[in-house]
Amino acid sequence: MTIRVEELNGTNCKTYLLTSGKHAALVDPVRERVEDYRVLLTERTLELALVLETHMHADHLMLNREAKQRLGAPIVMHRLSPSPLTDRYVVGGDVLALGSDQIRVLHTPGHTPDSVCYLVDGAVLTGDTLLVGGSGRTDFPGGDAGAQYDAVTEKLFALPEDTVVYPAHDYNGHTSSTIGAEKRNNPRFSVPNRTAYIALMGSLGLPVPDRIQQALQVNQSGFEPGEVSFPLVAETARAAPIGANELAARLRERDAPMVLDVREPEEFVGELGHISGALLVPLDLLELRLPKLAGYSERDVVVVCRAGARSATACAMLERAGFRRVQNLEGGMLQWQDLALPVQR
Ligand SMILES: [Fe+2]
Repeated sequence: MTIRVEELNGTNCKTYLLTSGKHAALVDPVRERVEDYRVLLTERTLELALVLETHMHADHLMLNREAKQRLGAPIVMHRLSPSPLTDRYVVGGDVLALGSDQIRVLHTPGHTPDSVCYLVDGAVLTGDTLLVGGSGRTDFPGGDAGAQYDAVTEKLFALPEDTVVYPAHDYNGHTSSTIGAEKRNNPRFSVPNRTAYIALMGSLGLPVPDRIQQALQVNQSGFEPGEVSFPLVAETARAAPIGANELAARLRERDAPMVLDVREPEEFVGELGHISGALLVPLDLLELRLPKLAGYSERDVVVVCRAGARSATACAMLERAGFRRVQNLEGGMLQWQDLALPVQR
């Protein structure tokens, strides 16, 4: 059997339905449309097996806890995703089953560190990595034009030329393309080499979209819009970073910092484990618990999460509440694990 691909939104922000017989997957669902998806799945008696995200989106609201529950399927994202609601983290080369078919994961960083493409028989869902006649911008935090050039030219352009390309966005009315057409016609990749691509992407001077921080903060933190009583955005860049090795050294000292872990309880005891002695306060409970943490406001506090995004938000909240010596663990527990530093579970 071959996986069938259909676009559901009919707008420039695309959600795809993949079906293999009665087994279905949704790629990049938009929160506001969850009820439409649910009705469609019911009408066609499809069983939703997976929600696949191509990356941490900045332009629309992803599923929150409630929307996720309504759809009742696990969310899949790349290992580097900062999302607190992911159920299954994947890496390049992983294969997911959909009915009797397979979905292969290609790691294609550049637009974001966690960007992936999902390859099915004869088609590839390219997220914001490769667009029809374009490519996703690389000027957001974590963006990397060189990595994107490598991913597109080495991984996507290595696919058979007739592979159908389904992008996450299109602003010009296109619905799909092919690898061959993009190889020949995509102006972004008609540059002579990687260096020229980096220069091109650096010269685009794209305006920052209106709602980007609103959507990104919500998607990264799991907060609802309007749920927090202060502007998270402008402040998140401010907290001083601390590297994992430096934190490990500081923890051996007598006046070691307090480690505040703002992940979900399942993550605290999950695969990545936690730093010995860390205090767990999930980000969505932090504001409520601030009074109890007041005793630490003059002490060194290092905030930790999975990838360093939620902890940046927490740092901003603590600083606003008068904490003076707050640092953000750069790269989060992923970096801690990559350096093989000790954890508890
Ligand atoms: Fe994107």
